[in-house]
Amino acid sequence: MSALPGSPFLRRRDGALWLEETELSALARRFGTPLFAYSASAIRAALAPYQRALAGRPNLVCYAMKANSNQALLRMLAAAGCGFDIVSGGELQRVLAAGGRADRVVFSGVGKARREMEVALSAGVRCFNVESTSELDALSAVASAMGKTAAISLRVNPDVDAKTHPYISTGLRGNKFGVAHDQALDTYRRAASLPGIRVVGVDCHIGSQITAIEPYVEALDRLLDLVESLEATGISLQHVDVGGGLGITYTDETPPSADELLRALLARIDTRGHGHREILVEPGRSLVGNAGVLLTEVLVLKRGTERNFCIVDAAMNDLLRPALYNAWMAIEPCQQRGDPAERWDVVGPICESGDWLGRDRPLAVREGDLLAVLSAGAYAMAMASNYNSRPRAAEVLVDGDQVTLVRRRETIEELIQLEQPRA
Ligand code: LLP
Repeated sequence: MSALPGSPFLRRRDGALWLEETELSALARRFGTPLFAYSASAIRAALAPYQRALAGRPNLVCYAMKANSNQALLRMLAAAGCGFDIVSGGELQRVLAAGGRADRVVFSGVGKARREMEVALSAGVRCFNVESTSELDALSAVASAMGKTAAISLRVNPDVDAKTHPYISTGLRGNKFGVAHDQALDTYRRAASLPGIRVVGVDCHIGSQITAIEPYVEALDRLLDLVESLEATGISLQHVDVGGGLGITYTDETPPSADELLRALLARIDTRGHGHREILVEPGRSLVGNAGVLLTEVLVLKRGTERNFCIVDAAMNDLLRPALYNAWMAIEPCQQRGDPAERWDVVGPICESGDWLGRDRPLAVREGDLLAVLSAGAYAMAMASNYNSRPRAAEVLVDGDQVTLVRRRETIEELIQLEQPRA
């Protein structure tokens, strides 16, 4: 029995891949491919260190559900005490449908529509993470017209380099996110004077797949500087939201654990005399990323003069991360073969050269074999599309030897039905 990168709940036994007490080949045979499978135990195990580290002080772990918004996962996390970080009215509806509490929801995002503000105010979300003065003014107008008060925090852009992929780096001056640190004081003053607005916190989110503690501490220091300046002007905040972004192991990354990260941040918060404040975190990937795999069948092996292509039935529409970020995700055979390994570009059937899942991978495969793309619990199904008229994959949740189909495969008829041809 051997462990694989990322999750202790994914193991190889006698050559076969198992997720908890469930053999992956059996899942693929039962539900078909492409198929996402998630481990409930892995998700619970990923949440525990966040909750442990924050225990004993006011806190809220808000799962950044953009990573994976399946109802079954949301229900599980809500039951475990999580709140949610949302970025759209649709995500709010998903939380409510899953039995999550609106008063545990923080609403992030650079472009909130007025309609979304109204729905969030009616539902009673806990806090809007506001990203611009325009948004602040619009929210004030919307809330006032409804006779409500919007609790807000400003998402401050601390101008810190999270040292991650440029597409998922969000805390630099040149990014579209947040209110610049040097404008934050004025923006808070404006917020404090607006009708329908109540200032309750401060937040930042500097990027995703972050593998070091230092950028977080640097960003936190800048937030606390701001909190202190605000207090000096008579504006006091209850909570500090340190955002999400903690990385996971896809291959050989060694991100800090959630315990380590929070220990460092809480120590800083305490030393600087802010220990009484409520701490919010917004983890997405680190809760679900390594809990999931994408199962796919090898359709065609095509040996070329320059490269060998292993064409599988999952594609960039199911898993966009390699095409979009050049992301490396491990690919493992569900059943190991004794054959000598060859080098393969693992690609999908979509009509684009960018449709690849892994390049130059040593694999012993035959047509009809099943492969698992690892660490596919976050930003995989959530970013799936119907490109090439491919119905989106099914999803199952594994808990020990229990397997639940948590999203059935779309059918092409369902996709066509959405398009009403002119009579
Ligand atoms: N909070 C805010 C305001 C965010 O924008 C994000 C992610 C999170 C929390 C959660 O970050 P996490 O803990 O998951 O790193 N699609 C990309 C990642 C995009 C992240 C966007 N924002 C990928 O596949 O790598």
